[in-house]
Amino acid sequence: MKFSAFISDALEQKGDCLVLPAFSEGQAEPVFDQADQVLSGALTARIKAGDYQAEAGKTFWLYPEGFPFSRVVVLGLGKRQEYSLAVARKAVRSLASTLKGSAAKTAVISLPAAADTEEDSRALTEALVLALHGATYEFNAYKSGKSDSKKISLSNIKLGLSNVALKQAREWVKQARAMAIGVELAKDLGNQPGNVCTPTFLTKQAKKIAKDHNLELETLGEKEMKKLGMNTFLSVSKGSTEEGQLIILQYKGGKSSDKSHVLVGKGITFDTGGISLKPGLNMDEMKYDMCGAASVLGTLLAIAEMKAPINVIGLVAAAENMPAGNASKPGDIVKSLSGQTVEILNTDAEGRLVLCDTLTYAKRFEPASIVDIATLTGACIVALGHHTSGMLANNDELAKELLDAGQQSGDRCWQLPLWPEYNEQLNSNFADMQNIGGPGAGTITAACFLSRFTEGMNWAHLDIAGTAWVSGKDKGATGRPVPLLTRYLLNKLNAG
Ligand code: BES
Ligand code: MN
Ligand code: ZN
Repeated sequence: MKFSAFISDALEQKGDCLVLPAFSEGQAEPVFDQADQVLSGALTARIKAGDYQAEAGKTFWLYPEGFPFSRVVVLGLGKRQEYSLAVARKAVRSLASTLKGSAAKTAVISLPAAADTEEDSRALTEALVLALHGATYEFNAYKSGKSDSKKISLSNIKLGLSNVALKQAREWVKQARAMAIGVELAKDLGNQPGNVCTPTFLTKQAKKIAKDHNLELETLGEKEMKKLGMNTFLSVSKGSTEEGQLIILQYKGGKSSDKSHVLVGKGITFDTGGISLKPGLNMDEMKYDMCGAASVLGTLLAIAEMKAPINVIGLVAAAENMPAGNASKPGDIVKSLSGQTVEILNTDAEGRLVLCDTLTYAKRFEPASIVDIATLTGACIVALGHHTSGMLANNDELAKELLDAGQQSGDRCWQLPLWPEYNEQLNSNFADMQNIGGPGAGTITAACFLSRFTEGMNWAHLDIAGTAWVSGKDKGATGRPVPLLTRYLLNKLNAG
């Protein structure tokens, strides 16, 4: 899909679909009034008749004659005094699905920002691009014959912005498009079945990104990891016939003297639970247990696509968690790369086992910050549901940056505490720690486990168990938290 920006009159743009914003209670935007005049009051007539209240996200179509656009869609934004970025996002999502279902090819869209700030205009532009790009996403790589989905006509979006220079508007659109491409990659990788998306497959994907965008790539197989002493990582992959992979992808857009920001992704390409086998219901969804890794690759792609002047390293801890004669057993004790020993009481708490060695590995980069992203605990879904990612950090400034980036990108997270009382739940009788912390506060104790491997680093953890994919009839990866992570990194640039 093509996106462009304009700052002049919407009615002067070319296209076969004009989107007009409307507020309830008759307060219209200038562009709405202008179009209404040309249409001799056809728009206001409909509102006056009481047939349309302009509730946020409500749309209606009009096919006027003698008008520069063959179709017009009026998009309700609710009451003017209640209009906010959140309302705009809701309306934009609904607009995206309306446009997707139409035969419109080129849509000209000019919506008012909620507040008169640059930040709000930028966020709205980003929301539009992500929603429109996302609405046309489909994953039907494995559907043979005729696909039952309707062909999508929408291919060209022209976004109107006011109170901003054209150069700035274009830059925002370019960044948002790159973000959307990163989200798309994360969705694509997540949706791949487990028999295709293996650790080696993820390595191949990283290779492709490295080649296309000039990133540096290094991968460690099991032999190399064994040599280093990454035994907690290997304790997970050893029951699988698929070889575990540590993927190291470096984007160097910044000065060589700038320290890198490191992203670490959990890449369990299928999580059966291992010997602590999971129940069968919905186990297929454990193909999504590599969505943290997918978000790392997606974010790197977005940043590289933008050519952002920043240094970012993506580490992907890729392995398959299987039961087998040689798989790890409950009670096994292994020595991590950090030298600390871990008693594996539950082989289904495997994410933290691959992550802890990867976090230790990351210390060599002396990261400016390090954020790991993982579908780590079912408990996070209990705590925050499917709207919000869990976030824990050993540094309040970093935590705030992630909260802000979530808010700004509409891809929100919420902080949980990392207090010492919780950490004690991990004490073991036989090793330096155990890999589970008992029934309560599962998301927190999982993060406490990771925190034992991040001392001296400016670290945060995102638990995306509830946000990385949706279940049910619309089952599919969401591409989250690529928007949050990309925004977080971009904010680093503006901070100087
Ligand atoms: N990948 C799962 C977490 C998960 C479960 C994410 C369901 C999304 C939906 C993780 O490896 C896991 O199995 N965690 C266990 C930890 C427990 C054994 C302490 C869990 O959440 O049950
Ligand atoms: Mn598990
Ligand atoms: Zn898992």
